Amino acid sequence: KKRIVSGIQPTGSIHLGNYLGAIRNWVSLQNAYDTLFFIVDLHAITLPYDTQELSRTTRETAAIYLACGVDASEGSIFVQSHVRAHVELMWLLSSATPIGWLNKMIQFKEKSRKAGDENVGVALLTYPVLMASDILLYQSDFVPVGEDQKQHLELTREIAERINYLYGGRRWKKLGGRGGAIFKVPEPLIPPAGARVMSLTDGFSKMSKSAPSDQSRINILDSKDLIANKIKRCKTDSFPGLEFDNPERPECNNLLTIYQIVSNKTKEEVVQECQNMNWGTFKPLLTDALIDHLHPIQVRYEEIMTDSGYLDGILAEGARKAAVIADATLHNVYQAMGFLRRQ
Ligand code: TYM
Repeated sequence: KKRIVSGIQPTGSIHLGNYLGAIRNWVSLQNAYDTLFFIVDLHAITLPYDTQELSRTTRETAAIYLACGVDASEGSIFVQSHVRAHVELMWLLSSATPIGWLNKMIQFKEKSRKAGDENVGVALLTYPVLMASDILLYQSDFVPVGEDQKQHLELTREIAERINYLYGGRRWKKLGGRGGAIFKVPEPLIPPAGARVMSLTDGFSKMSKSAPSDQSRINILDSKDLIANKIKRCKTDSFPGLEFDNPERPECNNLLTIYQIVSNKTKEEVVQECQNMNWGTFKPLLTDALIDHLHPIQVRYEEIMTDSGYLDGILAEGARKAAVIADATLHNVYQAMGFLRRQ
């Protein structure tokens, strides 16, 4: 089986963008692949954060994975910091990552501009190297993510190719390696719809955990009333009818896309159904579809959270299984890079 890996930061609450761009695809792909899904707590400390919250949001994120249907019996669900190899490989990778590559990262530029110099730790710059480590440790074939992670995936590929070039090949074979590459070069898997869910209050910016207004996003755990209220107040326009793909109507495209996915319809079906509607008829339809889709997830979430032993057991077992694969890769990389073998 080919392998997929992916993860989400446990900062703030998991929203519809994370679900439609990532988790939903993990679930639809998981039967065909060997899977590892992690909660990237080490990434969550790259901007100022609350130490009182981190462990709670980490467990909640894991519970959301399970509630959304991520399967822990075949694949592994684990916490990034529980597998030490992530940080260790990151150091090795960072030695072969030019600073110029990191300075070009759009997310770094955006986040550092917002945070202000005082709050920008070195880890914000090297963040994508840790992400590369998360992926390369498991010799992953594919990484299912939303559109905004595409550039980080491209960087991961470049780091893998550079390490393979610098330390792989003939030298690697002489050292007892398989003769091929040290790392598999992974590819992103970006869904055709839902790869970039936009804010409810501004169709030009993406839905995000860090946007100050909670009105801008639907969180997976939002109550029915809250969902209804957010959709009622969300930004729309005054064009006649509803349509996809009109660049002057980003909010319209976004809301129709959300509706299409959560109601399990094709784009054509949604066009047929909604093209002559106005916002007053469409909004209640969208609200109901969202509530119907999220409600079972919320019920399962509550069940999972009442049994903390179950969740902790899954995370412990996940970390144990992941560490076996990760340690093997790490060992090979140390060897290829010429380190004295540990006795
Ligand atoms: P994060 O936590 O920002 O987002 C988690 C996943 O959700 C997707 N996503 C979206 N998709 C569609 N529309 C949106 N508005 C939206 N917002 C977020 C993201 O693309 C992502 O798939 N660096 C990563 C976490 C990470 C990771 C990894 C991912 C660390 N190591 C290794 C894959 C593999 C991040 O911050 O995602």
